[in-house]
Amino acid sequence: MEFDFPFDTKILPAGDEAISLACELLRAGEVVAIPTETVYGLAADALNADAVAKIYAAKGRPADNPLIVHVSDKEMYSKVAVLSERAEKLIAAFCPGPLTIVLPKRGCVPAITCGGLETVAVRMPSDETARAIIANSGLPLAAPSANLSGKPSPTNAQHVLQDMQGRIPLVVDGGESSVGVESTVISLVGDKAVLLRPGYITAGEMAKVLGEEVELAKAVLQQVDASAPVPSPGMKYKHYAPNAQVTIVTGSSEKYCEYVNANAQQGVFALCYDEDLAGLQVPAISYGKAGEPATQTKALFVALRTLDEQGAQAAYAHFEHVNELSTAVYNRLLRAAAFRVVEL
Ligand code: TXA
Ligand code: MG
Repeated sequence: MEFDFPFDTKILPAGDEAISLACELLRAGEVVAIPTETVYGLAADALNADAVAKIYAAKGRPADNPLIVHVSDKEMYSKVAVLSERAEKLIAAFCPGPLTIVLPKRGCVPAITCGGLETVAVRMPSDETARAIIANSGLPLAAPSANLSGKPSPTNAQHVLQDMQGRIPLVVDGGESSVGVESTVISLVGDKAVLLRPGYITAGEMAKVLGEEVELAKAVLQQVDASAPVPSPGMKYKHYAPNAQVTIVTGSSEKYCEYVNANAQQGVFALCYDEDLAGLQVPAISYGKAGEPATQTKALFVALRTLDEQGAQAAYAHFEHVNELSTAVYNRLLRAAAFRVVEL
């Protein structure tokens, strides 16, 4: 199918006017960018194959990379997916919120929404505007992050516009996303519960609720062979990449600053913690506080886009160590850095 993008993209602040225009466009099979608590989403009627095709086109997304279906309540959840006892437990504990569950799909969900898989990824966002748009339109909404494929996910409406200007009719501006990285994705399709993408809800928290171990899919923190089978198609693709070549540098603040300063030259930037700023002699962009991953998830994608805006050619990203919540940050940084890591 050929697409052209004739839109004069409108941006409206979240509120009654924006919500009703969004619902009207969505019911007409159009694509609308909406705020969520994680990142902005590029939404369309998940049950309308033609509307979903427009999402893939606007993003430039490979057709085998399935979308997340967003629902406003339990009833809509079970309309698109077959819920198990385990799913019920996670939904009761964490939904609405930044958790996506992969489950067997119902027949009403077209193949294109799920990248041809027999499973569907479902999420019930907590963001008020997102919930109102889903509930008022009455539509489950397929919505990937609202960036061009391969770019950092947008956490505010301006970043959506950078990528989507002219490609969609409407962006609903709900301010800065509060979480800042995409939802946790867990698969409950097989015998074991498997974490496919780390996020704000951690494997440990879910294991407690499920009363069983949650396995970490290998591709979360390791590079997988592009031709090898993966449990989640999104794992194969390059992600979150700014134009600059990013390298992760581990170790203390002192060692990190020493290393970066020794590599200082035109176009070299530091992507660092607040605590590192004073010790650096190159242009530096902070992505939160050391030891406080919740500040980092919120700032990371903004910082990656700032590198591009400031013309960075190379960036050294400081990362301390992996723990429950910082796994979500490290997973994104590894992909932004194409798995380049220097351990000091
Ligand atoms: O926070 C979020 O989840 C955001 C907001 C907009 O809700 N959405 C988002 O969507 O991050 P997207 O399309 O950028 O990421 C969806 C991820 C991909 O890695 C995809 O491969 C995986 O979920 N996924 C979707 N359906 C799947 C399925 N049936 N089985 C395994 N993985 C699936
Ligand atoms: Mg994405």
